[in-house]
Amino acid sequence: MANTLGIIKPDGVRRKLAGKIISKIEDSGLVVRGIKILRLSKGQAEKFYAVHEGKPFYSTLVEFMTSGPIIVMVLGGHGSIEKWRELMGATDPAKAKYNTIRREYGTSIEKNVVHGSDGPETAKTEVAFFFREDEILPKE
Ligand code: CDP
Ligand code: MG
Repeated sequence: MANTLGIIKPDGVRRKLAGKIISKIEDSGLVVRGIKILRLSKGQAEKFYAVHEGKPFYSTLVEFMTSGPIIVMVLGGHGSIEKWRELMGATDPAKAKYNTIRREYGTSIEKNVVHGSDGPETAKTEVAFFFREDEILPKE
């Protein structure tokens, strides 16, 4: 019953898609255990995406992720990591399955509306990147 990190990226917040995305999350059985809206500094975005440092899309990704406010969420419930990745869809919206968030709302491989942790270890470090333990609702 691990938690995972979800982010509504600047394009999603700017386009007022947050409500629709959170509805999909709750309808899928995932539980929102923590949520905040904030704007990343350049340093924070660089650190969050450090695993991609050196890749051709790194600097534009950092620029995009700092371009406006984001909504960060702790998502819990059974199989939350896989469930959230499934609901988001593939990185490239054009290749994502129908009825996924990225397929429905993504406009490019970069501006793909949402982020989700890719495994148990990253989920743990990414949740801790944004939330203290006492900011997360306990599991029921
Ligand atoms: O987000 P996800 O785990 O699906 O993909 P990633 O490979 O970890 O890449 C992180 C983010 O970098 C993506 O969600 C895109 O916003 C961006 N990206 C990009 O701009 N161009 C690429 N060729 C690959 C990823
Ligand atoms: Mg990733």
